[in-house]
Amino acid sequence: MQLQTRATKFDLLTDDDLTPEQAVAIIDRAAQLKAQLKAGEPQNHLLPGKTLAMIFEKPSTRTRVSFEVGMAQMGGHALYLSAHDLQLGRGETIEDTGAVLSRYVDVIMARMFKHTDVTLLAKSASVPVINGLSDLSHPTQGLADMLTIKEQFGGWNGHKLAYVGNKNNMVNSLLLAGALVGLDVAVATPPHNTPDPDIVKRAQAIAPQTGSTIEFFENPYHAIMNADIVYTDVWVSMGQDVDAETLDNLKAYQVDEEMMSGTLPNSVFMHCLPMMRGQEVTAEIAGGPQSIIYDQAENRLHVHKALLYELLVNPLGSVLL
Ligand code: CP
Ligand code: NVA
Repeated sequence: MQLQTRATKFDLLTDDDLTPEQAVAIIDRAAQLKAQLKAGEPQNHLLPGKTLAMIFEKPSTRTRVSFEVGMAQMGGHALYLSAHDLQLGRGETIEDTGAVLSRYVDVIMARMFKHTDVTLLAKSASVPVINGLSDLSHPTQGLADMLTIKEQFGGWNGHKLAYVGNKNNMVNSLLLAGALVGLDVAVATPPHNTPDPDIVKRAQAIAPQTGSTIEFFENPYHAIMNADIVYTDVWVSMGQDVDAETLDNLKAYQVDEEMMSGTLPNSVFMHCLPMMRGQEVTAEIAGGPQSIIYDQAENRLHVHKALLYELLVNPLGSVLL
């Protein structure tokens, strides 16, 4: 394999750091790596000697384990770094942390409260930085979800995802990821709780290039009409303040049998997890035949591997050049 050094490093901070072509190429690469893994083909030659540093300011099950297992499967190594245990927790600057880690590792993944902090980390690191969830976005989840949707429906064009629930990082990523791949996205959130206006503008700017449509509603039943996918997330994200009135308004957005019955016959239910059964979704829908929540969780692994491979191996023709 011919290797080439990247002229400028690539950071994945929000989904639209990728072009539509790059997003689709990473998802295709993920599908290929998934098929290889299922066929028992060895993959430990893909990233030998490569190290990933994973900084976590907040808890994680899926992101942590899938990145760590992904590196191990490809012959690389991942370091779990709790922000509390790093000098960062004692006040060392993000800039120094980014610069120093770049002298040891090949790539950094960071889950931080503030998106501005991940951006600062990316600026100070000379190696690629992947956002593992911030208050603004969750790009690796968005990409993995697009893989899951492609597996389910064979593609994205002409299919519709309805997000019902609170505004948060997840709906922002679904808007951008959906726009990148050409999926229609309809969002229903309570009054005064609409998604980040800058993200909305960015998604609306991408959508016409890929044939996606983006719509916003207050009434969840308007959003779910003709939907192939109903997606929800926790009403209170990590570090998010949600007032009592909004929580009360959110009760009308719970995904239940009645809401699912307003969708297309082959519709599926999606959630990034972790979930609060009985709050944003009923236990019956979460555990019912339409639920594909564990496929979503699995696909984090395959998408993270594809992303790491494209970032680190960088063969001529890598989609991220
Ligand atoms: N969906 C997701 O990012 O899960 P974790 O918080 O467990 O990583
Ligand atoms: N919106 C949720 C997603 C968790 C993976 C949160 O930020 O807590």
